[in-house]
Amino acid sequence: MNILAPSLLGCDFSNLERQIKAVEEAGAGYLHLDVMDGLFVPSISFGMPVIASIRKCTDMVFDVHMMVKEPGRYAQVMKEAGAELLCVHQEACLHLDRTVSQIHALGMKAGVALNPATPVSVLECILDQVDQVLVMTVNPGFGGQEYIPYTLEKVRALRRLATERGLHLDIQVDGGITPENAAVFLEAGANILVAGSSVFRGDPGENTRKFMDVLRKYEAD
Ligand code: DX5
Ligand code: ZN
Repeated sequence: MNILAPSLLGCDFSNLERQIKAVEEAGAGYLHLDVMDGLFVPSISFGMPVIASIRKCTDMVFDVHMMVKEPGRYAQVMKEAGAELLCVHQEACLHLDRTVSQIHALGMKAGVALNPATPVSVLECILDQVDQVLVMTVNPGFGGQEYIPYTLEKVRALRRLATERGLHLDIQVDGGITPENAAVFLEAGANILVAGSSVFRGDPGENTRKFMDVLRKYEAD
């Protein structure tokens, strides 16, 4: 299934509830929540208290993208705050297998994210254990960047690998995704699009509908 995951990082934080409702009503399925520790990535965003508060505003799936060193330390508290999908960076986990098992044991879906320069091959051993792979299409840490073209080939390679193994893997792309370039990523094999600035800059409901039109077209093909 094709899904839009608006990234809250791109929103106007003085109007959280209104903007969350706008994207939900327009058809977004996931709410992408970027947690940054100022160490794995240069910036700091938000954490458990914000996530727990907005849990009351929406039924969208909470897709938490942990840009945090050793994110397994926070798996339990993120679950308690309302996370349903916890995505950790391969580069941030010394014991990735243990962290993925820990996420599953808590009853969440487990995702693994790869920075642009990290090859898909690092996931060969663990691919069958994960629910989702997030291919970073920009260097993580900030919204509003242009996507890096070579990441598209990673999406293709990952979809090929998943198909060869008979896996129904969710492939998420994150960074620089717009309604205009979304088709390129869907054609490459991604099925979950994360979008921050291209959803929340301007009218979030209207922008979500633009994405949904593209997503539905590829669902039907
Ligand atoms: C960046 C974050 C993204 C970010 C995307 O490190 O992981 O989720 O919000 O923002 P845009 O869509 O503006 O590139
Ligand atoms: Zn993200």
